[in-house]
Amino acid sequence: MAAITTIEDLKRMHKRRTPKMFYDYAESGSWTEQTFRENTSDFDKIKFRQRVAVDMTNRTTATTMIGQEVSMPVALAPVGLTGMQSADGEIKAARAAEKFGVPFCLSTMSICSIEDVAAKTEKPFWFQVYTLKDDDFMKRLFDRARAAGCSAVVITLDLQIMGQRHKDLKNGLSAPPKFTLASMADLATKWPWGIEMLQTKRRFFGNIVGHAKGVSNPASLASWTAEAFDHALDWERVAELMKMWGGPVILKGIMDADDARKAAELGADAIVVSNHGGRQLDGTVSSIRALPAIMEAVGDKVEVHLDSGIRSGQDVLKAIAMGAKGTYIGRAYVNGLGAMGQKGVTKALEIIHKELDTTMALCGRRDINNVDRDILMVPEDFEGRWA
Ligand code: GLV
Repeated sequence: MAAITTIEDLKRMHKRRTPKMFYDYAESGSWTEQTFRENTSDFDKIKFRQRVAVDMTNRTTATTMIGQEVSMPVALAPVGLTGMQSADGEIKAARAAEKFGVPFCLSTMSICSIEDVAAKTEKPFWFQVYTLKDDDFMKRLFDRARAAGCSAVVITLDLQIMGQRHKDLKNGLSAPPKFTLASMADLATKWPWGIEMLQTKRRFFGNIVGHAKGVSNPASLASWTAEAFDHALDWERVAELMKMWGGPVILKGIMDADDARKAAELGADAIVVSNHGGRQLDGTVSSIRALPAIMEAVGDKVEVHLDSGIRSGQDVLKAIAMGAKGTYIGRAYVNGLGAMGQKGVTKALEIIHKELDTTMALCGRRDINNVDRDILMVPEDFEGRWA
């Protein structure tokens, strides 16, 4: 096997080994996928300022996110259906993250439940929730997260309704997959995935099936979101949910300075500048382009994190230099998981760490906590002049 040196290598293996419907689920954006593409291509427009003859001994990428120590400012983002990319995928990813010393955030739409992950890990993880109509279900979710020792809740604010991802509809995405002619033909070429999957009982949405009432088809993400999600969500409800949880809260999906101010006023411990990996509002700007205005509005009031578009350590460094205190990877670790299970997630983290550390050194910095905008050359019109 050729050496694995990039996230792109893991992505190719992921595609070869995992059923098409799940690879496609991870690898899509909504509608035309414009925002999905620009999330990555906008990072390329930012350049590093190369510095030389600067002592680069004793480097560190260790820092904190919401006051918790991390070996690098990169958390594993909440990603739905992770346990379909590889059997027990959430457990594998959480274990890789805890060994590496970075936060793992479990999605409500996970296959392994909160309790499954808690039973197989030692350190506290973060738990992501959507904003649902069913108060009882929300309360029980928070109780379960508390009982599992979760150290923060991430509330997703940008998915009351789902942006359409064409591939999911065409593939008939469901967990577990339905047996159609096309899915059987695909599975026949991915049999090691199938054998592993037969050895686990975790093949359904573990946080939902048996916990949520009135869901007509719990195997379908689309039907659950359409039936259960709170379309009436407003800031008052966000405040209620924050109170219901009562612990550290990260508000995710902020792309606008006014929304960032509102989130800071509510007392969030951090916000995540995120367009949901380009999976929701197609046509909005990339998250890295949205970051400067949000830093200007609330950078001194609340910790700002960023996701959407990060595929390398260079991207992490650019986001940190632009002011983010932390970043999240979603697809990059899922590529590792689909390629090689837990080892693949560790590989993805190692790749990103090495890129981050070496790039920081070549920019003349030794400590991630001292990285600032001076290491970058940002195009003057990067944020754009929008009428
Ligand atoms: C869920 O949050 C998704 O983007 O599919």
